[in-house]
Amino acid sequence: MATIAVLPGDGIGPEVTREAVKVLRATAGRFHLTLAFQEAPLGGGAYDVAGTPLPDQTLAVCRQADAILFGAVGGPRWDTLPRKVRPEQGILALRKAFDLYANLRPAKLFPALTDASTLKREVIEGVDILVVRELTGGLYFGQPKGIQTGPEGERGVDTLIYTRPEIERIAKVAFEAAERRRKHLTSVDKANVLASSELWRRIVTEVGMAFPGVRLDHLYVDNACMQLVRQPKAFDVVVAENTFGDILSDEAAMLTGSIGLLPSASLGNGVGLYEPIHGSAPDIAGQDTANPIAAILSGAMLLEYSLKAGTAAAAIESAVSRVLDKGYRTPDIQQPGTQIVGTRRMGDLIAEAVRAGSGS
Ligand code: IPM
Ligand code: MG
Repeated sequence: MATIAVLPGDGIGPEVTREAVKVLRATAGRFHLTLAFQEAPLGGGAYDVAGTPLPDQTLAVCRQADAILFGAVGGPRWDTLPRKVRPEQGILALRKAFDLYANLRPAKLFPALTDASTLKREVIEGVDILVVRELTGGLYFGQPKGIQTGPEGERGVDTLIYTRPEIERIAKVAFEAAERRRKHLTSVDKANVLASSELWRRIVTEVGMAFPGVRLDHLYVDNACMQLVRQPKAFDVVVAENTFGDILSDEAAMLTGSIGLLPSASLGNGVGLYEPIHGSAPDIAGQDTANPIAAILSGAMLLEYSLKAGTAAAAIESAVSRVLDKGYRTPDIQQPGTQIVGTRRMGDLIAEAVRAGSGS
């Protein structure tokens, strides 16, 4: 039996997470897995009831879980709060608490959605990229940080710092992933300007010595942004520090048609956390229009990485593919001739497809 901590969060978080849980239940039924779900507050909603975006009780629920399924946090209601208690701090603190340093963000095009992308069919057909984002270091967490008042008035400070062990461990994850895939790793940095990047490039190259079967390229981040839309098929695995990885993974998501499609896994040495890469989209919250596929595929990654149930994970991916092949679409990926469905209906269709198996 496995316990899954469910942190729906804010905005569309709860509605997409509900569908992910629905599909996980259907999958558990088919593959005879026993899953227990335990819900806890995180983000703005948690601040409203507990005065903090990451209540101790939520942390305790996560500590006892085998995996964490997270939705999204944030919204305009909480944007004026002091940074320390802003909803985003909830997820950042959680990543730090469990040392979830390796964030895997696969961007793979579903064939049925080739025309849903804003890029030309011939550019994106067959795109299959894995962004490996460093998640617990860099600008997000470096000290000093904050807004200070000095003789020249206010100044805002963030610190971009990476240590050797931090770079070594994320590089290793990226090389190992590349070994399991098409054996090509692109490391993204800004080594022509930043000292942290100079060290990053040197250490990634060193770690690469142990992976002679993997071809390693280095790209400056500005060039990487350009190449990603110019020739996305040239990429296999991309590894980047926290902020660059945040930006590049949104860009990679749009290659596949919608940010509503991309899941992620955040891994460390203990419990793993799974979340859609999209945010809380407060403008469409509660309207039953959000795309639950990223959340549902995050559930698949949870089965694969935390519960080692690869076959069950593959069944979810196949179910999503079949539902898209049949022409069902949420509004973000609609095209002429497809059938628009809401969040719940999309979840129902995918859960049904999981139960029916690949013969459906
Ligand atoms: C992401 C998000 C988060 C991040 C925000 C919500 C703090 O953009 O997971 O990509 O910047 O890491
Ligand atoms: Mg982001």
